[in-house]
Amino acid sequence: MCGIVGYIGNKQAVEVLTDGLAKLEYRGYDSAGVAILNDNDIEVRKFKGRLSVLSQDLERNNIHGNVGIGHTRWATHGEPSDINSHPHWNQSCSIAIVHNGIIENYMDIKEDLLQKGYKFTSDTDTEVVCHLLNEYYEGDLVGAVKKTVSKLEGAYALSVMSRDNPDELVAVRMTSPLIIGIGEEENFIASDIPAILKYTKNVYILNDGEMALVKKDGIELMTVNGTPISKEVFTVDWDVEAAEKGGYDHFMIKEIHEQPKAIKETLSPRLKKDKTIKLDDINLTKENIENFNKVYIVACGTAYHAGLLGKVLIEKFVKIPVIVDIASEFRYGNPFIDDKTLIIVVSQSGETIDTFEALRLGKRKGARIMAVTNVVGSSIAREAHDVLYTWAGPEIAVASTKAYTTQMASLALIALDMAVKTDAISQPEYNKAIEEIEQLSSKVAEILEDLDLVKDLALDIYQAEDVFFIGRGVDYDVAREGSLKLKEISYIHSEAIQAGELKHGTLALIEKDTPVIALATQDRLYDKMLSNIKEVKARRAYVIAIAKKGNKEIEKSADKVIYIPDVMDELSPILSVIPLQLLSYYVAKERDCDIDKPRNLAKSVTVE
Ligand code: G6P
Repeated sequence: MCGIVGYIGNKQAVEVLTDGLAKLEYRGYDSAGVAILNDNDIEVRKFKGRLSVLSQDLERNNIHGNVGIGHTRWATHGEPSDINSHPHWNQSCSIAIVHNGIIENYMDIKEDLLQKGYKFTSDTDTEVVCHLLNEYYEGDLVGAVKKTVSKLEGAYALSVMSRDNPDELVAVRMTSPLIIGIGEEENFIASDIPAILKYTKNVYILNDGEMALVKKDGIELMTVNGTPISKEVFTVDWDVEAAEKGGYDHFMIKEIHEQPKAIKETLSPRLKKDKTIKLDDINLTKENIENFNKVYIVACGTAYHAGLLGKVLIEKFVKIPVIVDIASEFRYGNPFIDDKTLIIVVSQSGETIDTFEALRLGKRKGARIMAVTNVVGSSIAREAHDVLYTWAGPEIAVASTKAYTTQMASLALIALDMAVKTDAISQPEYNKAIEEIEQLSSKVAEILEDLDLVKDLALDIYQAEDVFFIGRGVDYDVAREGSLKLKEISYIHSEAIQAGELKHGTLALIEKDTPVIALATQDRLYDKMLSNIKEVKARRAYVIAIAKKGNKEIEKSADKVIYIPDVMDELSPILSVIPLQLLSYYVAKERDCDIDKPRNLAKSVTVE
């Protein structure tokens, strides 16, 4: 989604801004632009397309200046075009802004401004902000921003510059994330840490309704009403290398290979030598847990798929009913939330707007909110009552991999911790689960050791028009994730079906050579699954099965078999998803797709 960078200092702003925008490319965008204060004028350059289009223009035009704002846009209001790109400016081009989020009441504001004679050049909601700033500006930039935002409804992170206030940038946040980077004789604004990590690890994280006046030699923090505030400096504990490709062709494959380490780092600090679990920032007591009569797990995308396993684990170990819901449905449905409800929100970024708003809805209705997130200091982490961090490190590829496996590992810990606290699990069952959890990281590493088969299989299916994923129980949940991975990065149509449902419709689509990926890792459901494989084989499908090592029988029914190490059924998704991630990756590579930045998609979805 959209990215913001702002700079004020002694360096050439163009360099800092383009460098920062490049670090935000992974979030997904369709156009990019900068505004630079250049000899008392604001020079704006902005283009539809990749950042390289902007960079080439900036090189040609050699624009100098030490103050500027930059943006990568992911279109919501108005198609991707040069004109709709940010920055936007007022008619005299004395004020320029970049904006993330959506101004929901922009039509009403636009009507008023049109009547006052303002002219609009773009189709964006953002442009109203420029003209409102113009309307309220009387020499005091902070004052104009305060008055402007008092008129805005919706979600926004804004960075504002003014020709007539050359020593100032103003940043303001409502829902959409924004941070201020603290340097020496220079300061920064950014929507996301990687944009400025090269220059500083010290940041202020703005909360909703807060703004910052950013100068070269100081930062003043205040609320949007102008009340000064003080804030702790947040120091980022990862470095630039963690957010770079390190010799891999793509972030996605790097992140797939980082999974053994990510899983280990997520699990190890929480598993004590005496086999007990200690979840740092989760303070649920036995009484709290016994008070819950249900759990909601709410998330989007891949995080939702991790939540599906959370349900299985909590229902099995804790024996409390769990409802898993997509955040955008949960928010506008009629969920049963009260003070006997635990809501677990799962979000890699901690910023996904629907998940965040679901959290807030739950909180308003009295539920206890637990977050599983990868980003320390994210909005979701800060507003939840309890937080369990996945220690996956920065995930850059749009298609989530290591976040997913660490989310599932975290949910396993949460389920076992709740089960132990409430005596819902027997000691042997607990010991067995812990033993299995401890082996997950090395088993994932084992799968990653041999990639030849999966690369060959990618060659077999990369020209397919449709691919079907089938499974039962948690194998179906993984099938959904496998299908999502394939469609998002290779653009092949794919569907995941509960294997038992095939004959109620989807079987009609199976014909000679249709690729069917059949997950058959559940001991309990194996015979049923084998029958389903035979059903599609009878229609001459090309079946790739995923099965546990040692199962030779399945080779008689499937065309090809990928084996995973033996594992407890309920934890198998953490292993069985790995070949599916790899398969998607190699299929997409064969199809020459933009793997890390698939078309139309974004890493961090900060608009509804
Ligand atoms: C986007 C990303 C997915 C991610 C989903 C939820 O769609 O492309 O990879 O699973 O958002 O994001 P979150 O940060 O909340 O986990």
